[in-house]
Amino acid sequence: MSPDTEPVLEVEDLHKHFGGLKALDGISFCIAPGEILGLAGPNGSGKTTCINAITGVFGLDSGAIRFAGKTINRLPTYRRVRLGINRSFQVPSPFLGLSVMENVTVASVYGGNKKRDPDHILEITGLAQIKDRLAGSLNSSQQKLLDLARALATDPRLLLVDEIGAGLNPNELARMTDQLRALAAQGIALLVVEHLMDFLDRVTDRIVVMDAGKELFSGQLYEAAEDPRVVEAFLGG
Ligand SMILES: Nc1ncnc2c1ncn2[C@@H]1O[C@H](COP(=O)(O)OP(=O)(O)OP(=O)(O)O)[C@@H](O)[C@H]1O
Ligand SMILES: [Mg+2]
Repeated sequence: MSPDTEPVLEVEDLHKHFGGLKALDGISFCIAPGEILGLAGPNGSGKTTCINAITGVFGLDSGAIRFAGKTINRLPTYRRVRLGINRSFQVPSPFLGLSVMENVTVASVYGGNKKRDPDHILEITGLAQIKDRLAGSLNSSQQKLLDLARALATDPRLLLVDEIGAGLNPNELARMTDQLRALAAQGIALLVVEHLMDFLDRVTDRIVVMDAGKELFSGQLYEAAEDPRVVEAFLGG
């Protein structure tokens, strides 16, 4: 992040527990416009919970989430979407009985009908050829693309993608890399949650590694790979 760029997202000291489990235990980070931050960490370390907290799926125990300088902790999800935050899901769940185009159109309405042309979104996500297919007939890679398209239909300034690379073949991964970098080049801030280190390396500008709801490491991925705390978290020592 260049020092003169204000972050579009700042999360500070987030805490969230589920029963006795601390899913988020003091995590903080920020993302600038056009920046791609990777979020890595072992299974159950709190990555998806971060996305859920930022998008308002549930409230926090404590901590602050600021978007474009405004504290958004208490806003419902749809208000956050209309401010310019959206996400894709670890397990996409489109409206299976609607077509690809209809799914994107519904998302666009949910986002407040911003001026994103659904045809253009289907074009850039590579779904234009199959826009009349029912979402329920798509394979898992196509459903991931549709999930991305639905998020883009709300014209986000902050896009949070949850394991969007998982299950994609090498060609699809290369295309997804280009797509995410192109979105950042337009000024969208991205949080990329991922286990695939090669993909993270190609896509992100820097990464945060989480473990048990805390930050374990923040910096460049090649440095993370040499950090003994990160190695221990992934390999159990
Ligand atoms: N809604 C919930 N209710 C209860 N426990 C939850 C809930 N959401 C997450 N958890 C728990 O919080 C912890 C963090 O979960 P989270 O899904 O954020 O992990 P993750 O880092 O995304 O893992 P993965 O890499 O496997 O997707 C886990 O122990 C999980 O079981
Ligand atoms: Mg997850």
